[in-house]
Amino acid sequence: MDRYRLNPLLSRKEIASTVKRLADRISRDYRGSELVLVCILKGAFVFLSDLMRKLDIPVQVDFVRLASYGDQMKSSGMIEITKDIEIPIEGKDVLIVEDIVDSGRTLQFLKNRLALSNPRSVKICALLDKKARREVEIEAEYLGKEVDDFFVVGYGIDFNETYRNLPEIYYVTPIDQDERN
Ligand code: IMP
Ligand code: MG
Repeated sequence: MDRYRLNPLLSRKEIASTVKRLADRISRDYRGSELVLVCILKGAFVFLSDLMRKLDIPVQVDFVRLASYGDQMKSSGMIEITKDIEIPIEGKDVLIVEDIVDSGRTLQFLKNRLALSNPRSVKICALLDKKARREVEIEAEYLGKEVDDFFVVGYGIDFNETYRNLPEIYYVTPIDQDERN
């Protein structure tokens, strides 16, 4: 753990204004519809909890947990659902809430999978997007901020299950040998 440095990327204030901007658009666009927010565990739960409390329309909330087989810093193409949604979504508007889009494989998988239940629509709301790393064609209709190709932590997002509790978002860089001595 001490071989890494956390560099500030987004302050609490910047996160809050980003979340508010997204929530205002979502409230406007989904007014009068039956909206289900589907949060991808675990990384998006902090974002979800702030986002949903800024919405001024009725919503239902559900969760999925996905397992992807790859190394720690990168997801592979092999994805499976380890916890599915419990609310019926047929005929409803679904908005997937995700922390960060990287290769896009997680969202592509989930979007296709949810579409099998015949919702009225499935769209994506992501806090962060590393567009440079995209491997499949997928876009978040509601995007907080595009970020460079750094590994980020905080505000629900982890490195090895650590740092989720940080209220700000940081990018992680290695500390080289010289600096440590
Ligand atoms: P994708 O399927 O490659 O788009 O990966 C998306 C998932 O990878 C996100 O839901 C995160 O869980 C994880 N991920 C991608 N980039 C980062 C990062 O910088 N920090 C922490 N987790 C990340
Ligand atoms: Mg995730």
